[in-house]
Amino acid sequence: MRTKIELIKLAEQMPKTELHLHIEGTFEPELMFKIANRNQIQLPYQSIEELKAAYQFNNLQDFLNIYYQGMAVLLTENDFYDLTMAYLEKVHSQNVVHTEIFFDPQGHLERDIPFDVQINGISKALEDAKVKWGMSYRLIMSFLRHLSEESAFATLNLAKPFLDKIDAVGLDSSELNHPPEKFARVFQECRELGLKITAHAGEEGPPEYIWQALDCLEVDRIDHGNRALEDTQLTAEIQKRKLTLTVCPLSNLKLCVVDTMEHHPIQKMLQVNLNATVNSDDPAYFGGYMNENYKALIEDSNLTETELYQLAKNAFEGAWLPTSDKALYIAELDKIFHQ
Ligand code: HPA
Ligand code: ZN
Repeated sequence: MRTKIELIKLAEQMPKTELHLHIEGTFEPELMFKIANRNQIQLPYQSIEELKAAYQFNNLQDFLNIYYQGMAVLLTENDFYDLTMAYLEKVHSQNVVHTEIFFDPQGHLERDIPFDVQINGISKALEDAKVKWGMSYRLIMSFLRHLSEESAFATLNLAKPFLDKIDAVGLDSSELNHPPEKFARVFQECRELGLKITAHAGEEGPPEYIWQALDCLEVDRIDHGNRALEDTQLTAEIQKRKLTLTVCPLSNLKLCVVDTMEHHPIQKMLQVNLNATVNSDDPAYFGGYMNENYKALIEDSNLTETELYQLAKNAFEGAWLPTSDKALYIAELDKIFHQ
């Protein structure tokens, strides 16, 4: 049997895919200050240390307040490029070979940053990483659920000239009091446009919100989904639909969705045959990227080698990639585990 140190090493070395990542949540304080200076924007913190000290959250909303404040220094296409490229360089160094990233257009449109500035900067970095390292990607446009259905429809209309660059849509921001059904009509149109669908559900919200993601939005995947375990019928329905759950261990710890990593439900999810995966969510704010998430899980639980393999494999299976590409990635994964 491998030791924890050996399992952590294996997690670092194995090829990985990330399926739940907000590009604005990768904004490291050093880069944030650099871009703020370049754009002559004053951050409400005097130093990087002071900014980092503010990263203490009691819940999702505490975090979101700081997250929206941070992204407000992004103004130009170059800013979006630099943010995205910094993330891609980081995860390339961690053996992430495929990534599916969210961006929050409304968080920038509200500040009068045009849609094309955002998406062109992000897409150029993704294309460059593909050329440089062979990294594959998908781009997910996420709607802010604390805003209105009307705002979501307006955003979708702005996105229409760029649908060749957008693979899927998501739903994020403040979950409580903003149930998925609020956006049923928007997601229906997205589905008709051929976009894949995912939604944050069951992070802080009740199992009922996960049911709505299934039945009102007809999701292809569920982001977080922690609270699915509270409802056995719901668990069975997610199994039946073979939906992937994009779980975020360090995020859950930092936002007090779980009290300790030992109590994280991800092993339980695997034990009841849910297709759970490991993801970083907002790594600059939550203490780590993919490797640090795996490391925290391995250190603080009794995760086995088989479970580690299953988590990594589930992510490739749940990626929006052609079956042939998934098979190639999984073959690489198998090599690492069976050497
Ligand atoms: N939950 C909801 N909205 C978000 C998150 C999250 O974890 N990260 C960025 N936006
Ligand atoms: Zn998220």
